[in-house]
Amino acid sequence: MTNTKPTLVIGATGKTGRRVAERLTNAGLPVKAASRNGQTHFEWNDQSTWGPALEGAGAAYITYFPDLAFPGAADTVEQFAKLAVSMGVKRLVLLSGRGEEGARDAEIRVENSGADWTLVRAAFFNQNFSETFVESVRHGVLAMPGGDTVEPFLDAEDIADVVFAALLDDKHIGQLYELTGPRLLTLGQAASELGAAMGRDMQYVPITPAQYAADLAGHGLPEEVAMPIAELINEVLDGRNSYVTDGVERALGRKPRDFADYARAAAATGVWDLTEVAS
Ligand SMILES: NC(=O)c1ccc[n+]([C@@H]2O[C@H](COP(=O)([O-])OP(=O)(O)OC[C@H]3O[C@@H](n4cnc5c(N)ncnc54)[C@H](OP(=O)(O)O)[C@@H]3O)[C@@H](O)[C@H]2O)c1
Repeated sequence: MTNTKPTLVIGATGKTGRRVAERLTNAGLPVKAASRNGQTHFEWNDQSTWGPALEGAGAAYITYFPDLAFPGAADTVEQFAKLAVSMGVKRLVLLSGRGEEGARDAEIRVENSGADWTLVRAAFFNQNFSETFVESVRHGVLAMPGGDTVEPFLDAEDIADVVFAALLDDKHIGQLYELTGPRLLTLGQAASELGAAMGRDMQYVPITPAQYAADLAGHGLPEEVAMPIAELINEVLDGRNSYVTDGVERALGRKPRDFADYARAAAATGVWDLTEVAS
């Protein structure tokens, strides 16, 4: 694939979309960076924005928000994929989540849309700790559901590498890559490794989905999204995803990045520094 036409990146300000857009731009390839507040206006809830966003594109990286498991998401993504194919944008790479029935439904709809598809089904991102739950991590407490479940935390840089490779090389068409990090960690172990990277104590505190939803709403997530997201996170951290896969290696021919390396690199950016002075 020559990628002379721009790639539409949906969610281009988000954790994976931003990294995919950066990789394309750094390679000298054109990008339509799309989201509600992006250079290219795109709103999942307003279909009138989809056609203009797809116009002139040669491929699309699709990230749905809030989550493919939400009611109606599979229908929406199917309609989008069909519109893309009808407009000649056949090369579609879809970001999905592991262990989510609703997300599997959306994956199947994209597989059946007539697109040249690649599915990237991801584990819990490392970058949730440095780009989403930043405040709580900074203050030494990781409070969320999950308990003692082990999860193979995945680096968003690895997701972006896989998506970038998929967009550039047709050998990835028709592949489903289930991506995980290389190691299983409990949230308590993840908190310890984050604390070690920061040089401070860091604790994991198990909380209920309802408590977690209140916390998410307090950090700006709309209330109607906070509870389903909290329940979804509780559900996928019930042990169903407690195994590592070879997805990164299969797609890229190398091992995935390790959580401890991520934690050290994120700490070095100062994202968790305590800079406020109590008055
Ligand atoms: N986080 C994880 O651990 C994880 C794991 C597996 C799969 N996933 C999947 O990754 C996807 C992204 O989740 P995330 O939490 O990682 O996202 P995120 O980093 O917060 O990024 C969300 C992106 O979507 C855009 N966006 C939000 N609402 C939108 C809307 N209504 N229409 C168009 N764009 C919208 C945002 O930009 P604007 O605000 O400018 O619109 C932003 O660019 C979800 O489908 C999720 O299931 C996440």
